[in-house]
Amino acid sequence: KMNSYVSTLMQKMTLEEKIGQLNLVSVGFDVTGPIVSQDVDSKIRKGQVGGVFNTFTPNAVRKLQELAVKESRLHIPLLFGYDVIHGHKTIFPIALGIASTWDMGLVEQSARVAATEASADGLNWTYSPMVDIARDPRWGRISEGAGEDPWLGSEVAKAMVKGYQGNGFDGNNTVLSCVKHFALYGGAEAGRDYNTVDMSRIKMYQYYLPPYRAAVDAGAASVMTSFNEVDAVPATANKWLMTDLLRKQWGFKGFVVTDYTAVNEMTAHGIGDLQQVSARALNAGVDMDMVGEGFLTTLKQSLQQGKVSLTAINDACRRILEAKYKLGLFTDPYKYCSEDRAAKEIMSAEHLAAARTVAEHSFVLLKNAQQVLPLQQSGTIALIGPLANNQRDMIGSWSAAGDWKKAVSIATGIKNLVGDKVNVLYAKGANLLDDTAILKQLNANGGEIVADAKSPEALLNEAVSTAKQADVVVAVLGEASGMTGEAACRSNIGIPDNQEALLQALVATGKPVVLVLMNGRPMTLGWENAHVSAILETWFPGIEAGNAVADVLFGKYNPAGRLTATFPRSVGQIPVYYNHKNTGRPYDGKSNEKYKSRYLDIPNDPLFPFGYGLSYTSFTYGDVQLDKQTVTGNQALQASITVTNSGKYAGEEVVQLYISDPVASVTRSVKELKGYQKIMLQPGETKTVTFAVTPELLKFYNSDLQYVWEPGEFIIQIGTNSQDVHSASVNWTK
Ligand code: IFM
Repeated sequence: KMNSYVSTLMQKMTLEEKIGQLNLVSVGFDVTGPIVSQDVDSKIRKGQVGGVFNTFTPNAVRKLQELAVKESRLHIPLLFGYDVIHGHKTIFPIALGIASTWDMGLVEQSARVAATEASADGLNWTYSPMVDIARDPRWGRISEGAGEDPWLGSEVAKAMVKGYQGNGFDGNNTVLSCVKHFALYGGAEAGRDYNTVDMSRIKMYQYYLPPYRAAVDAGAASVMTSFNEVDAVPATANKWLMTDLLRKQWGFKGFVVTDYTAVNEMTAHGIGDLQQVSARALNAGVDMDMVGEGFLTTLKQSLQQGKVSLTAINDACRRILEAKYKLGLFTDPYKYCSEDRAAKEIMSAEHLAAARTVAEHSFVLLKNAQQVLPLQQSGTIALIGPLANNQRDMIGSWSAAGDWKKAVSIATGIKNLVGDKVNVLYAKGANLLDDTAILKQLNANGGEIVADAKSPEALLNEAVSTAKQADVVVAVLGEASGMTGEAACRSNIGIPDNQEALLQALVATGKPVVLVLMNGRPMTLGWENAHVSAILETWFPGIEAGNAVADVLFGKYNPAGRLTATFPRSVGQIPVYYNHKNTGRPYDGKSNEKYKSRYLDIPNDPLFPFGYGLSYTSFTYGDVQLDKQTVTGNQALQASITVTNSGKYAGEEVVQLYISDPVASVTRSVKELKGYQKIMLQPGETKTVTFAVTPELLKFYNSDLQYVWEPGEFIIQIGTNSQDVHSASVNWTK
């Protein structure tokens, strides 16, 4: 039915109208590059626009949709896209936080809520999920992905696509997802955004490509290209990537859109003028050109000169029309505009409750000496720091439609929970940052970081005297939200210096200090870890920030988030990630032998490893039990372990399964995550956790890029994080 509908429509279309479908215009706000879209209304009337982005609300969308449907020759409806990344108006934690829940039900729910709100507000297409694997916390966009692991990243990718797209587009509350940035965007050299990527195929296949593939297999309707190059060809002109791999090998049936002006930017990459790069993009497999209008302005000429074929234009046009058909826009172009739904569903109590739950589950307890947490609801607390009574930074970057004025500050959240039971004293203590060079850049790009009227010294003194009056200090410190995200890379990934000075002064009071961290990347926290009593990593927690933080600080929810990206000891260790190779000269972490793969000045291991996170309770593991010592062929091995809650609080543990393959035809990672189970245990309770290990979990890419497993020994490792595991060995024969 879809094929014949689209074919009939295409028979009526002129070449210009077909090229028009490939054009995605921006109408204005949230711009992340040069705006090229002009005369949008008249272009829509002329059939020169396939989709619009950067606008929403039923009213605004209806107006533009009416132009297309009532005033263009063929009445073809428009797509309406937007960056609905971690919620539409009900803002959830940043993506790195959502992934830290290790709870795919919650991941899916966050996307479901986002889709429900976006689709009520006129939108039918989101530029999410971002599934770029990132091993470099200097890269600001590490905040937008699921971290460093391909297996976990694939689980998150699937859950997000399912949350956005549901089981199809029959209802009016699902949206097209767009997996991005294809591909390898997170591999930017030196962690600098948009920078060159150079990677072996085997590394791509093994570590970087799986989450994109998982999203495609889950039915992602669209794919966004990446700004970087792949094998010395910009991704946006890379035929191997978009045609051979994505469409032919993976069977992707949806459409490919560029990332913003990625077509135009290929002139700066140095592969041709606008006409040449536009032709290369189309020939490589791009269907829709975001904002740049290279397709609109040059494809006709390229066709006349034989540089692109009519088939390529037809294929791209067909894919865009198919997406519109699947959404049901040809039947009802206003299907996704609903004032009623918008009024009822956007920021509903139910959605806010979901955002609060996801935020609580995303927090990672990094340290809790002498069980200083949870706090008692009594006595005096000094609540200190530039993020303690702050709304603006709670929702993080890429919270495009979010309104930070609706965010719950930490101070308000604590007040909501404890009322008058606790005497809460507040002092700001420091500006978010005093570094004028960084401030200038952030403020030139939409930040509004205003220095306090009080001098830095006065702020600090006030904080110290406030701390002295309290039983415990809660210091809420970290990054301004503009310090992470797109084009927000840092070479120093510590807490800003002025906040660090504040923290040192607070510690010097001798009071127990609980550090509540907000940030969008793994940070270097050596001093903090050595000196404060407790550290709670809360990322940027979203619209319900304060309520969620209060729930966890006071023990209404026992934290169970786990890191999905390694926290290095210092920037010099980067990239540091758990699934590294052994090398020919591995270092055992102890001896003083010289010719080993190590540093002179720091250990090889990170400060906090992948999978790490504490609880208010403690868990004790038994030994790994295997149901067989030798396994043959496609049999499944049952690997079990007992986990006991040996502390005094009920709590969740994320039991993690890693597998090592000590001998293979190519070098393998020291271990790879292959599963996990999140379990709830009452104090004193023991549960047996069993994983079914199948040969599928033993597979890897060999030198011929075949996905295979090879017989031999495998070490099954189960534990509480990537470093702290219990092992058993098994021999697996073909
Ligand atoms: O979706 C984004 C992308 O992640 C970065 N460049 C702009 C796009 C559209 O806003």
